[in-house]
Amino acid sequence: MSKIVKLGFLGCGNIGGGVWHLLDEMHDELLKRDDIDLRVEKALVLSIPLARTDVPTAILTEDAADVLENPEIDIVCEFMGGEHPAADFMQRALEHGKTVVTANKMALALNWDKLDAAARASGAGLYYEASVGGVIPVIRSLTLSLEADKIDRVMGIVNGTTNYILTRMAREGSDYADVLADAQRLGLAEPNPAADVEGFDAAYKLSILASIAFHSRVTYDKVHREGITGITAADIAAGKEMGYVLKLLAIGKRDGDTVEVRVHPTFLPGDHPLAQVDGSLNAIFIHGAYCQDMMLQGRGAGDKPTASAICGDIVYAALNDRPTRPSFANTPEPDPALTFTDDWRSRYFVRLDTPDAPGVLAKAAGVFAAEGISIDAMMQKPACNGRAQVVFVTHETSEKAAEKAVAALNGDDMRVESVIRVEK
Ligand code: HSE
Repeated sequence: MSKIVKLGFLGCGNIGGGVWHLLDEMHDELLKRDDIDLRVEKALVLSIPLARTDVPTAILTEDAADVLENPEIDIVCEFMGGEHPAADFMQRALEHGKTVVTANKMALALNWDKLDAAARASGAGLYYEASVGGVIPVIRSLTLSLEADKIDRVMGIVNGTTNYILTRMAREGSDYADVLADAQRLGLAEPNPAADVEGFDAAYKLSILASIAFHSRVTYDKVHREGITGITAADIAAGKEMGYVLKLLAIGKRDGDTVEVRVHPTFLPGDHPLAQVDGSLNAIFIHGAYCQDMMLQGRGAGDKPTASAICGDIVYAALNDRPTRPSFANTPEPDPALTFTDDWRSRYFVRLDTPDAPGVLAKAAGVFAAEGISIDAMMQKPACNGRAQVVFVTHETSEKAAEKAVAALNGDDMRVESVIRVEK
């Protein structure tokens, strides 16, 4: 006898439509393969007359209670986006004992403690594979496959919009504003791109990813965040000449009880696996004591890849009566056993506009030396109007030492054009 599992949708736009189509196409196959009969019972939309026409009108409703408080519904799938009312609706559904599946990293990252508490209290499941890296099964890999390992590093390209923009800037030598405008024209960047280009989206994802990887609550407010809006074609070109590729990385590192979590533009050596991940693709590089280096790559967005991840969660929830829960105390505050540092160690790419005159290089090198910073590489571009572009790449040093050196380099005759961290 097959298990009938009834689903309710919160929202039925691009992603909801994708999930509906996948479930429709795979219904008989999943019934045969897994003995589960997945049925979409209700879908909450803002306006039935304006709703998409490729899902049956009979399942549409404008009343949230038809989904959240419907005793027929077992699993609620949230496709609304944004923090509210999505988080409140998910909480209501969990309180009514319904398992929730979501791709909403913002609502999850900012309300995870409350949602997890509601799920535990009612015994319902809470699944969010699609919230980080789209279809890439990174949450389940960390939660189940790597559960016995000791993960000390997660480093990801988790935002496709910024990866698309940086890839095109590198290929075409174009400026940020021009590529962004073109991406918006093509529908590949949002009309208001701030969530992507300022790094908010990646920071939500990193707080989820780092919490799971490090088995400790890493709250969103602990994530240092910088976007790509200040990146210039000159930065990317200079980095390229020195063998680097620029990515917006979400970096989480754990060393004992010290954790660093940061989202910022980062140069990677051209032969790093993440440096090859171009266009709108996402990838997550993981290091653990036993698994060592590994990388997962795939589509981070789009209706079909997201639907695949969401339906994976639905099937998992339908097949497993005992929900998988986070391994850590999901508190509103960061784990008090951890120290979150803003004085991490990194290498630094520092691009200067200087006079092309005797003693300038020695002066700049002296500033680094005064902060105990060792220089790994240096490049000077041909002078123009008596000025030169000089780039230093340092050996590993501390963030605070780099900040002091940059403050000291900036003077009347010398200007720091950009400072970009370099990972390996
Ligand atoms: N806006 C995100 C991106 C997709 O550009 O990758 C959804 O998280």
